[in-house]
Amino acid sequence: MQKLLASLGSATVGHDRRGPVCAVIGAQWGDEGKGKVIDLLGEHYDTVARACGGANAGHTIVVKGTKHIFHLLPSGALHPHTTVVIGSGLVLHLPTLLEEIRLLKEAGIDVLPRLFISEEAHIVFEFHKAIDVVLEEERRKREGKGIGTTGRGIGPAYTDKASRDGTRMQSLKGDMRPILERHAVRVQRLYGVAVDSEKELAALVPAQKLLKDRIVDTVWLLHGKLQQGKTLLIEGAQASLLDLDHGTYPYVTSSQTTSAGALQGLGLPPRVLTACIGVAKAYCTRVGEGDFMTEVLGETGDRLRKRGGEYGSTTGRPRRCGWLSIPDLKRSAMINGFTHWNITKLDVLDEEVEIPVCTGIASDGKAEWKKLPGWKTSTVGITEFAKLPKEAQQYLQFIEKETGVPVSLIGTGPGREQMIVRR
Ligand code: IMP
Repeated sequence: MQKLLASLGSATVGHDRRGPVCAVIGAQWGDEGKGKVIDLLGEHYDTVARACGGANAGHTIVVKGTKHIFHLLPSGALHPHTTVVIGSGLVLHLPTLLEEIRLLKEAGIDVLPRLFISEEAHIVFEFHKAIDVVLEEERRKREGKGIGTTGRGIGPAYTDKASRDGTRMQSLKGDMRPILERHAVRVQRLYGVAVDSEKELAALVPAQKLLKDRIVDTVWLLHGKLQQGKTLLIEGAQASLLDLDHGTYPYVTSSQTTSAGALQGLGLPPRVLTACIGVAKAYCTRVGEGDFMTEVLGETGDRLRKRGGEYGSTTGRPRRCGWLSIPDLKRSAMINGFTHWNITKLDVLDEEVEIPVCTGIASDGKAEWKKLPGWKTSTVGITEFAKLPKEAQQYLQFIEKETGVPVSLIGTGPGREQMIVRR
């Protein structure tokens, strides 16, 4: 672990070299298991931060058999020493945030005194969720299918932000009634959605009470921390193939999910980033509609889904399953500047006789495949690379060779301790 931590580097702040600023970014379509590596590294970092997205995310961490699901808080918040930051790039559904804080408190983890929320983050109201549903229905009618959003109001909240009609967290410190009355008129006119202002206001009261003092300028806060030599772990949400610019548009989310997006969402310059860990499953999954060239249907898809427990932690939807795509991993590695791979859920492939991997895309647009030998033996809980079956080692080395990025962390089960840390 110490060697890995050393390889995550040190940041430049002004003319000084400071502690590492490491981002953890999903390389596929989300649900790669980013929460676990963040939790693992979180122990060694002073500050943990979420940079973008909203409660469409669902990061599951299992600690001593207890499952914690995070939607808005960074999962590094599980470590009581961390300063917890929610950056400007997020869109926040406040009842969800409060519920998360409450559940953690029930589990003995008091996050509130060490939580800092950007005054620039935007609020997701109930009407955003209603608009999300209306827009999806319209797409279904118009095009036969929707995007398959999580229904958490993410697209409509970012639309309001981009059209400069959004409401920032800063507003929570004042009177929200006139703001909601203005939204009610606008939303009715644009989308035909009725806003129940009283219900919206009532839902905001607990958040106003509890969070008022936690809303700050997180740009000053984070830069101050870096100046003091503190270390920062940035928790990406969703993943590169869902990025608004670089993903499989229009079947994407509405935020920038890359390392650049994460820095923007926190008000940090690119040069502070010292490491970027790309997280990818040893196979691949996707929820919602959109391209998925390596998808496998039928029995094989069902087997992967069952072994991987591939059901959405936010919506409970069964995930589409398929094989690894090297072109996608390469592209994600380029866009994000990955310095390390965390390949997760290797054990899900334990029973495969052979494992197809997409290695390229032919001129006719079809996938080119290579079949790698399976290992047909359990890798669950293995913590040393040398103890992996030879074929599993070769599988990981193949990813390294093809992408040019070292595989430094390998997940061999859901538990915190079921991880191989290589360097
Ligand atoms: P939205 O972010 O709710 O608008 O959904 C847009 C697309 O992104 C849909 O296909 C969702 O299933 C997908 N998506 C959003 N967040 C996540 C996530 O955290 N994991 C996996 N897929 C996600």
